[in-house]
Amino acid sequence: MKILIIYGTTGGNTEMAAEQVADVLRKNGHTVELKRVEKSTPQDATSADLCILACPTYGHGVLQEHFVPFHAALKQADLKGKKYAVIGLGDPKYDAQYHVESATIIEEAIKGAGGELVCPALKISRSPVPFLDTLIQKWAEGLSKLL
Ligand SMILES: Cc1cc2nc3c(=O)[nH]c(=O)nc-3n(C[C@H](O)[C@H](O)[C@H](O)COP(=O)(O)O)c2cc1C
Repeated sequence: MKILIIYGTTGGNTEMAAEQVADVLRKNGHTVELKRVEKSTPQDATSADLCILACPTYGHGVLQEHFVPFHAALKQADLKGKKYAVIGLGDPKYDAQYHVESATIIEEAIKGAGGELVCPALKISRSPVPFLDTLIQKWAEGLSKLL
C-alpha cells in the first residue's frame, strides 16, 4: 500500500516519531513517503492509499505553526473515500488541559471533511525517545495489520 506521512515539527520530536512509524510500515511491505507539512497541500493528503498526519501541540492547545494553514485548507477539502491516521504529540508540563490536543483537532478536521480514520490516534506524551521501540512500534504494527 502507498502511504504518505505528512508531518509538522519545530523541535524534531514529531519527525523522529514519523520516521519510526515509516520504518515499521516499510518492514511490513508498504511504500512510505515522508513529507513536511509546509511543503504539502491537501491534494497530497488525498493522493496516497493512506495518509498519516503527524503534528505536535503548541501554544495552549493549538497546532504546530506550519500545520495551521494546512489544517484550514484540509477542513475545506473533500476527503470522502480516503483513509487517514493521526499522530499527536504533547507534554502536560506546558498545558495539562490541552494535552496532545493536536490529535483531537486533526481528527475532527478529517471527520468533518468526510475522511475515514482507520484507527485511534497515536498520542505521544513527552519525548518520543522512550517510546520508539514500544508504543510507537506497536501502533505502527497494529496499523499495518488493518491495511
Ligand atoms: C511553547 C510550547 C507550547 C506547548 N504547548 C503544548 C500544549 O498546549 N499541549 C501539549 O500537550 N503540549 C504542548 N507543548 C509540548 C510539545 O507539543 C512537545 O514538546 C512536542 O514533542 C514538540 O514536538 P516537535 O519537537 O516535533 O516540535 C508545548 C511546547 C512548547 C515549546
